Amino acid sequence: MAVRVLCSTGDGLELRTLHRGLAARIFQTVDAERGQLGRWLPWVHATQGLPDTVKFIQNARDLFLHGEGIHGAIWDQDEFVGMMALRMVSKADRIGNVGYWLCARAQGRGIITRLLGNFVGYCFEEWKLHRLELQCAAANERSCRVAERLGFRHEGLLRGARLINGAYLDMNLFSLLEPEWRARAPQAATNNATSRR
Ligand SMILES: CC(C)(COP(=O)(O)OP(=O)(O)OC[C@H]1O[C@@H](n2cnc3c(N)ncnc32)[C@H](O)[C@@H]1OP(=O)(O)O)[C@@H](O)C(=O)NCCC(=O)NCCS
Repeated sequence: MAVRVLCSTGDGLELRTLHRGLAARIFQTVDAERGQLGRWLPWVHATQGLPDTVKFIQNARDLFLHGEGIHGAIWDQDEFVGMMALRMVSKADRIGNVGYWLCARAQGRGIITRLLGNFVGYCFEEWKLHRLELQCAAANERSCRVAERLGFRHEGLLRGARLINGAYLDMNLFSLLEPEWRARAPQAATNNATSRR
């Protein structure tokens, strides 16, 4: 499967499909940044060697080919800086869950806010989803601000819902419905369509 650009903000920030050749780069990034990533992402601890990432990429490609999810690589000016995902919560109900992470040097520049804003449009338009969910630890203030900035509505607190490093974290549940997204950014659909290759 050739690498595809799934969405782009038009200024060098892109979400691209994965390929096997990226495994070493992804693993090295995760391995070098276990501290900051492992604080919030449960899979970091389970990623212990390159074969884990090779297997992850294979699974991600199968998911994508079967329309069951997306794991994309975030590229900023042709430099790999992180990942963004859509996992299907229910295909029948057209509900998905979005997630993301960035390497430390790329954080604090609005990359996730800008690209997720674009990706949300991609999920609603190309995958015909009706509802997107976003869960983040209540203590992960920066990630919660991403959700709020993009118009996700806070639905509640899932108490002790994620086990990370031996501790059960409270998770904020946010959601965005397709009509809300459309009403909020009527021009987003056009921008999204024109930015896609
Ligand atoms: C959470 C995380 C994805 C946020 O990524 P990010 O790109 O830094 O987030 P944003 O796009 O919101 O940008 C953040 C900052 O950039 C600043 N910024 C600069 N230019 C900006 C722009 N054009 N648009 C928006 N924000 C901009 C904002 O002020 C914002 O500051 P704040 O967080 O203090 O409010 C990142 O910190 C990360 O990967 N953390 C570790 C893994 C993780 O927590 N993943 C999420 C699990 S739910």
